[in-house]
Amino acid sequence: MNSVDENPDYKGLYNEACKLFKKAVHFSHGPFDETFFTMRVFESAKLIISKLPKSEKNKCNEPLVLVSCILHDVGKSKMIFSRLFGKNGLAETFREEWRTHPKLSVPIAKRIMKKFGHSDEFIEQSSFIIRNHDNRGDRMDEKDRTLELKVMQDADLISDYGFAGFIRPFTFGGKYRRSIIESIKFLEKKESRLEVKGWINLPFTKKYAKEELKIQHRLVDEALKEINSELLK
Ligand SMILES: [Fe+2]
Repeated sequence: MNSVDENPDYKGLYNEACKLFKKAVHFSHGPFDETFFTMRVFESAKLIISKLPKSEKNKCNEPLVLVSCILHDVGKSKMIFSRLFGKNGLAETFREEWRTHPKLSVPIAKRIMKKFGHSDEFIEQSSFIIRNHDNRGDRMDEKDRTLELKVMQDADLISDYGFAGFIRPFTFGGKYRRSIIESIKFLEKKESRLEVKGWINLPFTKKYAKEELKIQHRLVDEALKEINSELLK
């Protein structure tokens, strides 16, 4: 560990990640705005760490978690656009292509961390978190899941609940010329399927995810009132 590891330049790292996201064609059309999502994962991780029991909080390497949060999805900038999106929506190969991003993130994140002066030890530990950030549930042995990885995985999940879960269908719809009315109807259907996934690692995150879902439901209820019109019946 060196002084950069203990005191990372979070904003500088975030700007580097945003540069990559902005260059990638699949993010400039709005379906997945990673500049927003990455920032949310970073902030969610800070919140989760602040709520850890004292003994765990003392053990948790917060800078390692937060740097990993900022860089965990940079590999999305290298995914192949035509395998993600078709003319009218997601391509058949979407899921398969999506799964490649944690691995794709590792070499890019390593390069960025090195440029910012992080130690080899820190870079290796962060690479482990980034490589495994989608390995939830039984996709990896529970004993191999470090506290820092648990926090990062939870921050990643809950960042998709609440306001983010509400707003993303609108930005996605914009790419495919879907109207606001259609996007609200989509949210109504999506809302009934929402639940807290069994993939969450930490007790606080489970509670917090439920609260975020309530916010999302409230937002959808408000949006539904907006399309209650005789013109649409
Ligand atoms: Fe990811």
